[in-house]
Amino acid sequence: MSERQEKAVLPGVETARWRASGLDDLIEHITSRHHAYIRSELPWMERAIAGAVEAGGRAGADALVPLSRSFRFFKRELELHLRKEEEILFPLIQQMESLASSGHNPLLHSFGSIANPIGILEEDHRGERHQIRRMFDWLGNYHGSPPVARILGSFTDRLRALDADMRVHVHLEDEILFPRVRLLEES
Ligand SMILES: [Fe+2]
Ligand SMILES: [Fe+2]
Repeated sequence: MSERQEKAVLPGVETARWRASGLDDLIEHITSRHHAYIRSELPWMERAIAGAVEAGGRAGADALVPLSRSFRFFKRELELHLRKEEEILFPLIQQMESLASSGHNPLLHSFGSIANPIGILEEDHRGERHQIRRMFDWLGNYHGSPPVARILGSFTDRLRALDADMRVHVHLEDEILFPRVRLLEES
């Protein structure tokens, strides 16, 4: 399925609702639902990999190095991404929206165009997608001992669920929130 098709088939997204809502409500929905979900899943996934390494013994641990590395990188980058949104971009958007709603120009001159931080976060989203694919590719080709395979089977299920949630999450940001912010800046 191409990226374009993936974007068109997202039954979990209430597009009409979020195109009409306040940006603040959409941000609250993204953080309380999607960011909180990621933060609750990552520690479980990290523990699952540690459990697989332990169950695999020395040979198993060596074989799992690529997955451990990929996941550590993915987790670190994703946690940083959530912080960039929550501590930098989302407060800027809330400030712009409140300026616009009180009849002021929403441009934040001290910061430059909002398109700059948005561009960085869109790039992060592409990186996250790529990292998830790499982990799926590795997991699809892995053949380990039954105890390790069982743990990695559960890990794969949770990664699949995280991937599905991130598609909705990133769709809300890339296709609804960010375009609406760009329009607000141009208004
Ligand atoms: Fe987000
Ligand atoms: Fe994001």
